[in-house]
Amino acid sequence: MAHLSKVLEANRSNLDHCAQLLRNGDVVGMPTETVYGLAGNALDLNSVRKIFEVKGRPLIDPLIVHFSNLEAAEPHIESNDCVRRLAEAFWPGPLTMVVPKKNSIADIVTAGLPSVAIRVPRHPVFRQILERIDFPLAAPSANPFGYVSPTLAKHVQQTLGSRIKAILDGGPSELGLESTIIDLRNPEQPVILRHGPITESQISEVLQMQLTRHVDQANNEAAQSAPGLLTKHYSPKAKVRLLPHGDTRPRSEHTEPNASTTLVLNQKPSWYTTQHNIFWLSESGDLSEIAHNLFELIQRLDQQDVQQILIEQAPEQGIGQAINDRLRRAAAKLEAID
Ligand code: TXA
Ligand code: MG
Repeated sequence: MAHLSKVLEANRSNLDHCAQLLRNGDVVGMPTETVYGLAGNALDLNSVRKIFEVKGRPLIDPLIVHFSNLEAAEPHIESNDCVRRLAEAFWPGPLTMVVPKKNSIADIVTAGLPSVAIRVPRHPVFRQILERIDFPLAAPSANPFGYVSPTLAKHVQQTLGSRIKAILDGGPSELGLESTIIDLRNPEQPVILRHGPITESQISEVLQMQLTRHVDQANNEAAQSAPGLLTKHYSPKAKVRLLPHGDTRPRSEHTEPNASTTLVLNQKPSWYTTQHNIFWLSESGDLSEIAHNLFELIQRLDQQDVQQILIEQAPEQGIGQAINDRLRRAAAKLEAID
C-alpha cells in the first residue's frame, strides 16, 4: 500500500511545519468549520496546479480563495456594498462570495472566469495557518473530484493520503456541509449558487432584498458563468435513493442483518426496535445535527461496502435546503452514469 501521510495534531510545531510546506508550494489537508479543505498558495501557479492534480479535478472547476479577513481580500477583488455588509454579518464563517477579480488572481484559480470566489473561514486551525503566511489559500474540499466532502481528518487520509505530505487535524467539521455560495457580481441582483449553512433568509435579511434563484444546469461541460454546480458532485460509491421527508416506514429488507440496503432517516423512528441497517442522523431531527452527521455517515456506509442507501430528505427549510441539495447530487450519480 502507498505511504499515507500522517494526520498531525494541530500543535505549534505542526502548524509551523504546515505553514512552511505551504510556503514551499506544497498542498496540505486542513480543517475548516464546513468541511476539510485541500489548501495551497493561491498566488503560486504550481501550488494551484498541484491542488487540481491531487484531487483529479478538471481545470474548468474554479477554486475558492481563503483570506484571513476582508481587508486581506480587497486588493484582489472589485468590492461592493453587499460584500461589505455580508462580510460584516457572516465572516469569519461559512459564506463564499463571488466577485469580479483583479489580475493578481491567476486565471487557473478561477477556470478563466473574470470572477473569484472568496471566503474567510472561522476554524481556529485554518486561521492560525493564515496568520503564519502572507498569501491567501486556494482550498477546495479535500476529496477526490466527485466524491463526498471530508468532515474528518481521516477521510482526507483515506482518499488523498498517498498524494499529500500533511493533514492537520481540527476534529470533526462543526457544520458538515460546504459553505453557502452567493454571486455578488451584480450587487443589484445577488444569486445563491450553492445552498449551505448560511441560509437564503439570513442573507436576504442582511441585504434587505430578495435573492434570485440560480437555475441549476445539469452536467455543464465548460466553466459556467455561474459554475460550481456540476451534477456529479458529492457522490458516494453506494447507490443513493431519496425518500420524501416523512416517509419513514420500516421496510422488510432492513430486518435482515446483512442486507445490502440501508435506511437513513432524519431521526430515530418510533417503530425502531433492533433492526439492522437502519440509521438516523439526529435523535430529535435537529437540522444542524443532521447536516453535521450526514457526510460522515455516508462515508462510513461506503467503507462498509453498503450497496444502496435509501435516505429520507430533510424538510425544505433553513439548512434543510442545503442538505436536500447534497442528497439530490448524491442520488444524481445514477442518472449521470447510467
Ligand atoms: O465550505 C467550503 O466552501 C469548502 C471549504 C474547504 O472552504 N470549500 C469548497 O470548495 O467546498 P469546492 O472547490 O469543493 O467548491 C467550491 C465551489 C466549486 O463548485 C466551484 O465551481 C465554485 O465554488 N466556484 C469557485 N469559483 C467560482 C466562481 N468564480 N464563480 C462561481 N462559482 C465558483
Ligand atoms: Mg467540493
